[in-house]
Order: sequence, then structure tokens, then C-alpha cells
Amino acid sequence: MKIISVVGARPNFMKIAPFIKEIENHNHRNVQKIEHILVHTGQHYDDRMSKAFFEDLNIPEADINLGIGSGSHAEQVGHTMIAFEKVLRAEKPDWVIVLGDVNATLACSVTARKENIKVCHIEAGLRSRDMAMPEEINRLVTDRLSNLLLTPDLLSNENLRQEGVGENQMKFVGNIMIDTLEQNREKASQLSIENIINQNLIPGQNNISASEAANGPFGIVTLHRPSNVDHREVIEPLMRLIMDEICNDMVIVWPIHPRTLKQLTDFGLWNEVLEHPRLIMVYPLGYHELLRLNMDASIMLTDSGGLQEECTVLGTPCLTLRWNTERPITLKEHGGASVLVGNNVSRIRREYRETLKTQRKPVRPELWDGHTAERCLVAILNYTE
Ligand code: UD1
Repeated sequence: MKIISVVGARPNFMKIAPFIKEIENHNHRNVQKIEHILVHTGQHYDDRMSKAFFEDLNIPEADINLGIGSGSHAEQVGHTMIAFEKVLRAEKPDWVIVLGDVNATLACSVTARKENIKVCHIEAGLRSRDMAMPEEINRLVTDRLSNLLLTPDLLSNENLRQEGVGENQMKFVGNIMIDTLEQNREKASQLSIENIINQNLIPGQNNISASEAANGPFGIVTLHRPSNVDHREVIEPLMRLIMDEICNDMVIVWPIHPRTLKQLTDFGLWNEVLEHPRLIMVYPLGYHELLRLNMDASIMLTDSGGLQEECTVLGTPCLTLRWNTERPITLKEHGGASVLVGNNVSRIRREYRETLKTQRKPVRPELWDGHTAERCLVAILNYTE
């Protein structure tokens, strides 16, 4: 069997790592080998957004890099499709494996199906029902086209059922990202918070005390969604709430996404953020580094889906700066650690005060057990049309 797996952006890397390991395990154990080709579309290309994760998670270098880079969504998807079609025609795989909801997921599932190649979507069935989110469009198209839909939770199976997907096409396998978390927890726990901050500190911050975060309560902020960072009238009040109120309670560590850094610079707000003595601005962190911080953080304020999931398993109280989520299983009402707060400052302030009263409470949704990659590969090998 010949499999092409596709990655494009940062959240794909922690999902592919356990799947590739599982293929390697299979090949050690079996005479009939799986031929695996890893394609990186190149959507994320900075060392800190891509290479660092390949190194941290021991992902073999991509066999093929399409070098797509940044651009509008149509540019990214279009360029990926043109380049990926050539790969498919040359390699003729039996399966294309796509992950998550990034532009690579959409582009490569469409291209594969047009070449009459089977597609398996890992992390299928998530729905935010927010069509203003590019990721929701990516999820819908990918799931509609995929032959095999591997879901992280049973709510996702229900979503697929409602869309008319047959039972034989979907399989509940659990959350593959938690395989990565479990495999790397031990290594992360050995890192020093102080070193992580000092090694990733963005220059220009003079009064930062990394030891304060290491010794005292600290929080983490991550923001990258266009809906939160692309408009000054949204990002500025958020930034002021963090700087003027939350930082009075605790030091905040903010690993800044390239898009957010660019927007804050364009809005003329970057220097203010940089000069705040209790707001620690760091470059995008490596996998173990952010996991280490998350293990001890008193609170996470984020618009990332993956961090919502990691907070659930680690028990970190999490304010999700979105109005909806495709991952309801991470919410408090489903037993998780996260509360949806949107980007309205008074609502965030209220929920923040409430959250400060809560304790860490790790929970483990069904099949988020570190063995999802095994179930993914079994489902692919056992697939019958
Ligand atoms: C993408 C995913 C999003 C995911 C996020 C994680 C889609 C539709 N979105 O969003 O689901 O949560 O990745 O980071 O696929 N840039 C760099 N260096 C890089 C990559 C990007 O500087 O290595 C800058 C560029 O200015 C670029 C901007 O960041 O324009 C945004 O990058 P892009 O790949 O368009 O999407 P993300 O916002 O990262």
C-alpha cells in the first residue's frame, strides 16, 4: 500500500507525528510494508512555525515540499492544488491522508478525489457552524469528499450522521494530538520555565523578570484568528484588558503568532505591548516549551482549537476567545476546562474573575488515551469500499 500524508501548517505537525510512528511500527512488524510519502505544502515556512516541530517531534523531513508559502486563501489553495496534482500523477498513491482544517487539508482532498484517489480525513466531523471561519469551509468540503472519516469524539460522528455520511465511512478513533501530548509530557516536564522565557524573549523588553513567571502564578495568551487580530477595534481593547487588568493579578506570557505581530505593528501598538513590564512577549514556542508552560499556567486565554484540547487534558482553566467552537467536548458543559468568551471585553473580564476561582481539573474524553494513531492505521488498512 502506498500512502501520501499531507501537512501544511503548524497544527498539522503534532497530528502527523504519531501517525508516521505508527506506520514505522507497522513496517517493523509486517512483511507487507506501507510505502509512505510525506508532503509539506509549505504554508508555514518559518523555522519556529515548522522546522522546530519536525525536530522536536522527530518527524522525518518531508519527502516533498511544495513551497507554497503565504498568500490569500485562493492563492494558497490554488497553488497547492496545481503542485499536488503533479505529485499524485507521479506517485499514484492508494490513499491521501489529510489532517485537521487548514488550507492544505482542503486543497489536497479536492485534488486527490479528482484524481480518483481515496482520501482519509483525520479529525473529521468537527463543526463550528460558523461559515465566516475559513477552517469551517475546509472541514465541510474535506468531509464531504473523504472516503474514510476518522473522528475525535462521538459528537463529531453525530454531526456527520446529520449530514448523511454512512456508518461504514466514519470511525471514532479519538484525538491524535493527545497521542503526541502523552508521548512528550515527560520530556516537557523537565524543562525550566525560566529558561524557556529567556531563550525565546523578543528583544526590546528591559524589565522582564522570567523568574517571576517561574515562581509565581502566570497566565498564557495566544491569539491568531483573523476575527481577533485583523481589526484594531477588536485587538486593542483585548490588549488593554490584558495589560491594564489581568497583568495586575499575574505575569502573562504571550507567544506571538507572525500574523498578530504584523497587525500590532501596523496598528502602532507593538511598542506598548513590548514595553509592559508584566507582559512577557516571546517568539512562537516549540512543542515541549508550550506544553511545559501549559502544565503550570493558572489560566490560558486563547483562540486556538488545539490549545483548548490540551487544556482539557492538562486541566488548565481556559478562556476561549471565540463565539463558537468546533470542539464542544472541551467546554465546561461537556466536562472540559474551557469557556467561550468571544472577544467582548466585559464578558472576558467576568469569566476571567470566575475562572480564577476554579482549580485545575484534568479530564480525559473517551479515547483521548494516546492510542489514536493505532486506530487510524487499522481503520485505513481494514477499509473496504
Ligand atoms: C493557519 C490555519 C489555522 C491555524 C493556524 C495555526 C488555515 C486556513 N489557517 O492560520 O487554522 O490555526 O495556521 O498557526 O489554513 N506567516 C509567517 N511565517 C509562517 C507562516 C505564516 O510569517 O511560517 C505569516 C504570514 O504573514 C501570513 C500570516 O502569518 O500571511 C498568516 O499565515 P497563514 O498561513 O495564512 O494562516 P494562519 O493565520 O497561520
